[in-house]
Amino acid sequence: MRERAEPLPPPLSDTERGAKGEAVSFRTRPGSDCDTMHGRNRVDLSATRAHPRGCSITPKEVLEVRDREDTEAGPLYRFLAGDHARLDGFLRQAAARPGVIDRAAYAQFRAGLLKHIGMEEKILLPEVQRRRGGEPLPIAAKLRLDHGAIAALLVPSPTHAIVAALRSILEGHNAIEEGPGGLYEECEKIVGADVDELVARLRGAPEVPVAVHADSPKVRAATRRALQRAGFDDEAARLFPSGDEP
Ligand SMILES: [Fe+2]
Ligand SMILES: [Fe+2]
Repeated sequence: MRERAEPLPPPLSDTERGAKGEAVSFRTRPGSDCDTMHGRNRVDLSATRAHPRGCSITPKEVLEVRDREDTEAGPLYRFLAGDHARLDGFLRQAAARPGVIDRAAYAQFRAGLLKHIGMEEKILLPEVQRRRGGEPLPIAAKLRLDHGAIAALLVPSPTHAIVAALRSILEGHNAIEEGPGGLYEECEKIVGADVDELVARLRGAPEVPVAVHADSPKVRAATRRALQRAGFDDEAARLFPSGDEP
């Protein structure tokens, strides 16, 4: 695989940045080398200020793909996938230094993610269910279980192990929502011409009250159960080994 010799991509515009200017993710071309290498069809240019070393796709190609996808993606996708990228940035910043958690960055991640989950649980999924005559999307149950596990992981004080579990769960979860034929695409199809109105409602979603962290044995046991309910048995066993709960 050749080394990239192209210049760095141009500075990101305001619309490409998160609220604090941190994370921006760009989709790579499906089936490209980079896609295969990263296994998630997404590359974060803000982390490295360049396309990751060793990928054969060039920054120019990434930007072209981004431009095309920005044009093709609907407003619902752009808003919610953009929020994923913004939150990814906070999480990365929170655990950037070994052995230390940046509590300020983690607090922004935590509050932002709880709000994001609230948008999906209280606005997006119910709206789509209503338009399907009361029938939830088949994927809704799985997403709700994921949300429960994610929210439970936000209760204990953050550690690098918890951040790693969150990253792993969010990687799969966000792919289900953002992927081709995923939740966001499906929702855009269902709401059709009313998509702008729905995005406006999502934008107006309230902040979610955030409680202080809790680390009691009861909380740890509840978090372990929430992970297991959602099928994250490995994460549950790693974070809360047997006998750890009361
Ligand atoms: Fe979600
Ligand atoms: Fe989401």
